[in-house]
Amino acid sequence: MTVATDARPLGVFDSGIGGLTVVRELMRQLPGETLVYFGDVARLPYGNKSPEGVTRFSREICAFLLERDVKAIVVACNTASALALPALVAELPVPVVGVIESGARAAVARTKSGRVGVIATASTVKSGAYAAAVRALAPAVEVVERACPLFVPLVEEGWIDHPVTRQVAHEYLAPLEDHRLDTLVLGCTHYPLLEGVLGQELGAGVTLIDSGRETAAAVGALLAERGLAAPVAPGGKAPRHALYLSDLPLAFTATAERFLGRALPPVQVVPVPG
Ligand code: DGL
Repeated sequence: MTVATDARPLGVFDSGIGGLTVVRELMRQLPGETLVYFGDVARLPYGNKSPEGVTRFSREICAFLLERDVKAIVVACNTASALALPALVAELPVPVVGVIESGARAAVARTKSGRVGVIATASTVKSGAYAAAVRALAPAVEVVERACPLFVPLVEEGWIDHPVTRQVAHEYLAPLEDHRLDTLVLGCTHYPLLEGVLGQELGAGVTLIDSGRETAAAVGALLAERGLAAPVAPGGKAPRHALYLSDLPLAFTATAERFLGRALPPVQVVPVPG
């Protein structure tokens, strides 16, 4: 029996370059897939914006990705997943996968105490999307959400293992102690870079869930199921990824490579779509 395949690229977008943590996982787990990434650096951050604004931006970016003939779209941004995913799934002609469902599913699978924490941007927390996704899977699991907006600029500044970041982590996470959580979802693209600091603050009794890592696995399963996985490249040739940005920030390459964990594919700056 021949298995259906599809050589078209996979579209991925984020409010900026944080989504490269999801790309890193997609590249690691699905090395045959060609990725077209759009980072909306010009309109970053999404994490304090309205549902209407983020939904409009997301629609515009998806139209841009569809013009590049993508076979499916990964919403790497937690905030866009929280605020815009239902509209995108309902409207777009290709499968659309967000990061929240996979993060919630992994948290439900790993918690033993039934008490899960979620840290995310202010807009993601306000939406209650993670709590709703956990509740849909396991109504008895208690979810505590906390916005940690300062983590985004600290990570972009490269202050990963830094006393200021440890202090901020303590301020944000100390109030969660009373809830005796055993699982914490990193519900923002930037937070996986803080795994070390967060793990030290919370101790070994709390399992950290990287929503992006979980999402890459879910995307692999979806592509295989729908006959959309990339065919094996002749001679094992590496795919040629494309990286589009709506602006080129200062010190972009060093920051972006920290998120991606490797050298960047070619970067093209394009006007904000729409
Ligand atoms: N990418 C966003 C997220 O995962 C974080 C950065 C922003 O606020 O735009 O929610």
